[in-house]
Amino acid sequence: MSARLTPILILSFLSLLQPAQMVKHENFKTCSQSGFCKRNRALADRAQSAGASWTAPYELDGKTLQLKDGVLTGKIWKTEAGGIELPLEVSLFENGVARVTIDEAQRRTGEITLRHDSKARKERYDGAEKWALVGDHKCQKTATMETKEGVTTVAYGPDNYEARITHKPFSVQFLKGGEVYIVFNDRNLINVEHWRPKIEKAEGEEPTEDEETYWEETFGGNTDSKPRGPESVALDITFPGYDHVYGIPEHATSLSLKETRGGEGNYNEPYRLYNSDVFEYETDSPMTLYGSIPFMQAQKKGSTVGVFWLSAAETWVDVIKTKQNPHALTTEKASTQTHWISESGLLDVFVLLGPDAAWVYRQYGELTGFTTLPAMFSIAYHQCRWNYVSQDDVKDVDRKFDKFDIPYDVIWLDIEHTDGKRYFTWDPLTFSKPESMQKTLARRDRKLVAIVDPHIKNDENYAVDKEMVAKGFGVKDKGGEKVYEGWCWPGSSHWVDCFNPAAVDWWKSLFKFDKFIGSTPNLWIWNDMNEPSVFNGPETTMPKDNIHHGNWEHRDVHNINGMSFHNATYEGLKIRLGSGKERRPFVLTRSFFAGSQRSAAMWTGDNQADWPHLQQAFPMLLANGIAGFPFAGADVGGFFGNPSKELLTRWYQAGAFYPFFRGHAHIDAKRREPYLAGEPYVSIIRDAIRLRYSLLPAWYTAFHQASREGMPILRPHFVMFPDDEAGFAIDDQFFLGGTGLLAKPIVKESATKTTVYFPDDQVYYDYFDHTTYHRKGHHEVSAALEEIPLFMRGGHIIPRKDRPRRSSGLMKYDPYTLVIAVSSEGTADGVLYVDDGETYAHQSGAYIHRAFTFSYGDNTLRSGNLHPEPAKAAAYNKDMRSVRVERIVIVGIGKEWAAKKVVEVKQGSKTWKAKIVYTEGKDGKANTAVVRDPKVSITKDWSVNFT
Ligand SMILES: *[C@@H]1O[C@H](CO)[C@@H](O)[C@H](O)[C@H]1NC(C)=O
Repeated sequence: MSARLTPILILSFLSLLQPAQMVKHENFKTCSQSGFCKRNRALADRAQSAGASWTAPYELDGKTLQLKDGVLTGKIWKTEAGGIELPLEVSLFENGVARVTIDEAQRRTGEITLRHDSKARKERYDGAEKWALVGDHKCQKTATMETKEGVTTVAYGPDNYEARITHKPFSVQFLKGGEVYIVFNDRNLINVEHWRPKIEKAEGEEPTEDEETYWEETFGGNTDSKPRGPESVALDITFPGYDHVYGIPEHATSLSLKETRGGEGNYNEPYRLYNSDVFEYETDSPMTLYGSIPFMQAQKKGSTVGVFWLSAAETWVDVIKTKQNPHALTTEKASTQTHWISESGLLDVFVLLGPDAAWVYRQYGELTGFTTLPAMFSIAYHQCRWNYVSQDDVKDVDRKFDKFDIPYDVIWLDIEHTDGKRYFTWDPLTFSKPESMQKTLARRDRKLVAIVDPHIKNDENYAVDKEMVAKGFGVKDKGGEKVYEGWCWPGSSHWVDCFNPAAVDWWKSLFKFDKFIGSTPNLWIWNDMNEPSVFNGPETTMPKDNIHHGNWEHRDVHNINGMSFHNATYEGLKIRLGSGKERRPFVLTRSFFAGSQRSAAMWTGDNQADWPHLQQAFPMLLANGIAGFPFAGADVGGFFGNPSKELLTRWYQAGAFYPFFRGHAHIDAKRREPYLAGEPYVSIIRDAIRLRYSLLPAWYTAFHQASREGMPILRPHFVMFPDDEAGFAIDDQFFLGGTGLLAKPIVKESATKTTVYFPDDQVYYDYFDHTTYHRKGHHEVSAALEEIPLFMRGGHIIPRKDRPRRSSGLMKYDPYTLVIAVSSEGTADGVLYVDDGETYAHQSGAYIHRAFTFSYGDNTLRSGNLHPEPAKAAAYNKDMRSVRVERIVIVGIGKEWAAKKVVEVKQGSKTWKAKIVYTEGKDGKANTAVVRDPKVSITKDWSVNFT
């Protein structure tokens, strides 16, 4: 869920007669309808037409510069209005990240007056870091500074980094080994709109074009009172020689971002980041969506760099690429120029110089936190619809999955399960026995997810609302005293203010079992509508002049609102079992920000049951993954509308490769649980879901790696092959973690084949039939409805569990299959991470971490321990000791393997023999061999010798 059904919308049901559903563009601002965006774009246009004569009125005062313990401070003067003082801080972190922060002295000291007797804070918002950043970032005490002829050079490690700061006009180049990688204010578009009093115009006097949008702004019948006047910050950031940029989700666009200032195939609007409930969003668009992560990466051959723009306010980003002159004699590459524009707050940017994607992700993770290791069930299959109408309906669906032998782990309840849209309650007629329903599910180790949204029904007989209002825990209207009232699912509603620590503590308490009556430890939570969605608000959200805790305006914190809420939910779920008994919470959120990866999974909101939306999902999930939030999925089947059986089937095949894998449907959509599809569809969907379950060990290992190092779960080509420019724009195929699995699920109608791109000359094997590909480049492969193009890159060992079960919990002690995809060089290796999948015991060492290596040299497969403190795993190993490897499949071997009948197995001081069966590959397929039941334990060091 969800989308709005306002009275206006109901009136417009007539429009449903039109074939395609369309986003209501008129409900959302374009750049020119957003005053600060329009002003900054106009400034860019003026700079463009002025050419070389253009300069920015920003000068760094060299005399004020000080470098102390890795932090450079100084003053920038904006040489307008008698001189505006802008404090500058450049922090050089030990891990190589540089941070540039610009504030405004007069607002900081509060020497300004607000209009309309506003109670809002006067400073520029500086609280985003409290939400987005984790850990303490030590600065490099060894950084040095030198000033020559108006340029200050700061040298900092770890890799001969330099920040070269030109004083007049202020600009910064970031260099590594003498080469420029990133430039701030290359085009002189820097702009910090300083505070000014409103000067009333004399009668007949017209405001200038800029002034028109300095003060009150009206859009769609809502007026923003803007008590602080204009206060935007903007900066241009250039990536010289980089012709691809990625990231800044969430947009329904390609992974490699398009240009935004017109021209063939480009957008005319900047990418917008302003978390919104965009009803019936369209594909291939820079429009804003539900979440935002202002983190961008630039890629050129052999180099990845990143910038993280820390602002929680409405933000727009223009992207243009300088064209290469085809007649030029130089080999200079195209460059990418970006222009970042935020409505309020500090100008605060982090620079990550790579050298490669893995470093950038690690550095970004050290800033904002790595994705939390999810519970195992939460990466299995989820079944949802708006709505399962009763507990009997839930039990019926549960039974049908079993009847049709389709595994699933979680069934979901949307808003209709509540008593009149009052969260934390159950409909007394349809869900009279929620605990017994959860017990039924628990029999097969299945879970329930129920929805809890941030809008609280305005009803004094509803204890949650009564308490929230009485304690002052709701968001306030612009007066700063009265709780804000707006419309959402329950009708008139109030919104919990999770920027208030006391409100968070209260919210957390609502999940206790004696408060949320009918909940059990198997119930987890879905946070929807947390942008927040307000049906009668401007752009379907809250007025920007609403007041949050600490008197910050909503405008300052808008993009963090969703995260503040799902974080509070997560913390509440974590503590409800009591200290020492915590289980890893599962929370799904629609709205998100940088840092959301620490406490939630996300999905791409209300997509549609059509092919373009199926196609759009992978680029979106890839973008989320490289922006540090890989636990992401799209509604399988499409939320609005009714998918054809072919579309539904293809969507399950794609969904089996979404890190978050959930089927979902709108209340008006026909029932479409996978067992209803009829043959051959049911069988094909069953196979796709079983494929996901069999690869759960590989998925979980990839999540573990993401949680430690920040590497995405779905890895685009540019991450895996940073020298292969032909792969930089590919976003319809990707690698699964470090497994070497390359997937290209079909997202086009009536396909029977597709073209797959292999990025190197390594051997690739078809996952299912072991057809072999040896050459880098494009290859046509068959892709009939029952086929998923999936390949194993030679050189990898993939862990699986092949016994079909009803849920992932029932697979806990199942034996493993290891698939060795032998490289052209005759080697392979792989990693497996295992823990109990639900508690925090892994944090004290209760896990298995194995490295498998195979080489033709000595014809031996080995299992070695990666656990740094094996003693801490002793108790867990004991629990797992009977879990064995039941099968080893070796793909891509020579004919001489035909002679082998037995292999020698060694574990500890014991050796024994196991059978091996060879199969010759025909018609371009690889030769394979299978070792049956080598009887080795997953917890132990062992070797299998094939000679
Ligand atoms: C949630 O937010 C609080 C601050 O309110 C913070 O202390 C906590 O670490 C956050 N939790 C996560 C999982 O990020």
